Amino acid sequence: QVPQLDQCYNLMDFEAVARRIMKKTAWGYYSSAADDEITLRENHAAYHRIWFRPRILVDVEKVDFSTTMLGTKVDIPFYVTATALGKLGHPEGEVVLTRAAKKHNVVQMIPTLASCSFDEIMDAAEGDQVQWMQLYVNKDREITRKIVQHAEKRGCKALFITVDAPQLGRREKDMRSKFDDQGTNVQNGQQTDNSQGAARAISSFIDPGLSWKDIPWFKSITKMPIILKGVQRVEDVILAVEAGVQGVVLSNHGGRQLDFARSAVEVLAETMPRLRELGYQDKIEVFVDGGVRRATDIIKALCLGAKGVGIGRPFLYAMSAYGEAGVDRAMQLLRDEMEMNMRLIGCTSVDQLNPSLLDVSSLAHH
Ligand code: FNR
Repeated sequence: QVPQLDQCYNLMDFEAVARRIMKKTAWGYYSSAADDEITLRENHAAYHRIWFRPRILVDVEKVDFSTTMLGTKVDIPFYVTATALGKLGHPEGEVVLTRAAKKHNVVQMIPTLASCSFDEIMDAAEGDQVQWMQLYVNKDREITRKIVQHAEKRGCKALFITVDAPQLGRREKDMRSKFDDQGTNVQNGQQTDNSQGAARAISSFIDPGLSWKDIPWFKSITKMPIILKGVQRVEDVILAVEAGVQGVVLSNHGGRQLDFARSAVEVLAETMPRLRELGYQDKIEVFVDGGVRRATDIIKALCLGAKGVGIGRPFLYAMSAYGEAGVDRAMQLLRDEMEMNMRLIGCTSVDQLNPSLLDVSSLAHH
């Protein structure tokens, strides 16, 4: 017996349901991570090494956790990060996430490798709903130019260039499930080599030659803010500031690329003090993703200086298990957790979150 939606009480519950009901291929693609999946586990585990130092006797009757990310006002400091192949989990694909995001005034990042077309996802957005675009850079720069300029014309508000995937990581669960589920064609009828798993089959166009030298070109072809997604050490955050981009996402791609990459929150803890030393803290917005499952994770990241956090798999699992209602509930659960935990640490707004509310002495870098 699969639990009813109202029996899902936290984001982990959706994963358990998705695991039971999803096709093996789809589950393999969504849940897998690189090699021994050490980074995958570390991503969430790292948050467990951070403890709170709450304030008491603060009037917390009214709590407001709205904030801005890249100039966009949002109701809660998380966004739906880019995850490819939405139709593996739900017949309607990424537009399911778009509709739930609208309801909660949450930003959605559209993946280059979405199952729905880019225009379908933009069309599913309503009114002033904000969307960002995730870019895998094609070896053929004319294709990339067209994709970027089309996104800008359609009203996309930011360009997230993925920089942690010059080659796709080796995800063995994904590779294995191919053998059990022959014939799944992930590329809408195009022939692909599936022997290396779904991920590798669709990513051969990605340019491993992409480098810092390309950043000025991106700045010349678009007015959208540029954010580097997949930065993994403070030195590269500093280079990003000096390259004049507007943001970075500290991320290891949900553990799907380099195994033994550190968790984003650990990198964040080494990054923010250094940025402050250099006077760079207001020159760039720093986001994190990977392993965020609880509002307490979000609050910890914000206390350390993140502008917002990206959440990937939990929304895929909620969508796969229960469709839009599932994603809606997952977001509502996070809001409820957010309100309660803001009260319990004694903060009524996001701008009050600061490092003194944390004990990071168990974290390696602080
Ligand atoms: C991803 N991620 C990703 N990132 C990206 O830049 N382009 C992409 O196409 C994808 N595709 C993708 C598919 C799936 C199934 C997953 C799980 C992840 C990485 C994603 O944006 C993000 O970095 C992580 O998912 C964050 O970790 P959590 O929240 O899944 O733990």
